[in-house]
Amino acid sequence: MDLQLKGKVAVVTGGGRGIGLAMALGLAEEGAHVAVAEIDEESAEKAVAEIMKRGIKSVAVRTDVTQPASVKAMVERVEAELGGIQILVNNAARLPGFLTFVEEKNSGGSAELWANIVDVCYHGVINCTAAVIEGMVERKYGKIINMASDAGKVGEPRQAVYAGAKGAIIAFTKSIAKEAGRYGVNVNAICPSMTKTEAVRQMLSADFEAKVVKAYPMRRLGEPQDIANLAVFLASDCAGWITGQAISVNGGYATA
Ligand SMILES: NC(=O)c1ccc[n+]([C@@H]2O[C@H](COP(=O)([O-])OP(=O)(O)OC[C@H]3O[C@@H](n4cnc5c(N)ncnc54)[C@H](O)[C@@H]3O)[C@@H](O)[C@H]2O)c1
Repeated sequence: MDLQLKGKVAVVTGGGRGIGLAMALGLAEEGAHVAVAEIDEESAEKAVAEIMKRGIKSVAVRTDVTQPASVKAMVERVEAELGGIQILVNNAARLPGFLTFVEEKNSGGSAELWANIVDVCYHGVINCTAAVIEGMVERKYGKIINMASDAGKVGEPRQAVYAGAKGAIIAFTKSIAKEAGRYGVNVNAICPSMTKTEAVRQMLSADFEAKVVKAYPMRRLGEPQDIANLAVFLASDCAGWITGQAISVNGGYATA
């Protein structure tokens, strides 16, 4: 299948590591020019060096998705260096610490923690969408892919506030899809379950993995590439009639 992504301009937020990095490399593999918008500049530079080995254009832009001015500056730089943004992958997130809501409440600093989770996960998606949507509508072409989570569909103990933010992303995705479809803009959400990124590995002992994997019919946790494969497809015109969907990639963990 030719995904016809050659020369397309993509931005991946939080593309310096984990699933974001796998998606950035996946898009680059198909010939898209990829900007990595990251709060961690060092990881973004490394990702860009890797992407450029594929002989395509790429740029690392230090970005804080919670700050509209930072996002606006990122979009201006990407459009000046690579061209109009055709693909936006809203991936940046703050992952939860796997405490129950009450444990989190009593752990000190919970108000700041909750505000930050909602800010990075949900407001980040709003800010980045706001910065690109008019350009996409004007050009009558765009693909927006929002990283949600199965936690946002079916709920998850030890992830309550994060799950709430991910649920909000799903509702936002569906709403923008309904507004923007007539202008040729597809908007979808990807809902992974537990995927073995650096961030997750840090919290995952072998014992814990052996226990949780029993809840997965495929009897393994996800790898970043499992998620990137869907993102690359959704970014392509082969997925042109898919919009407003929240698609799980989860080895059968949740079937909602
Ligand atoms: N790994 C999983 O099990 C899993 C499951 C479901 C959903 N997800 C979602 O998939 C996405 C990627 O997850 P991951 O495990 O690779 O996470 P990760 O923590 O490894 O990567 C997140 C990236 O976002 C960047 N970031 C954080 N705050 C930022 C900000 N304010 N501005 C810009 N960049 C910022 C970080 O520097 C990091 O590179 C997230 O949206 C996450 O919620 C992950």
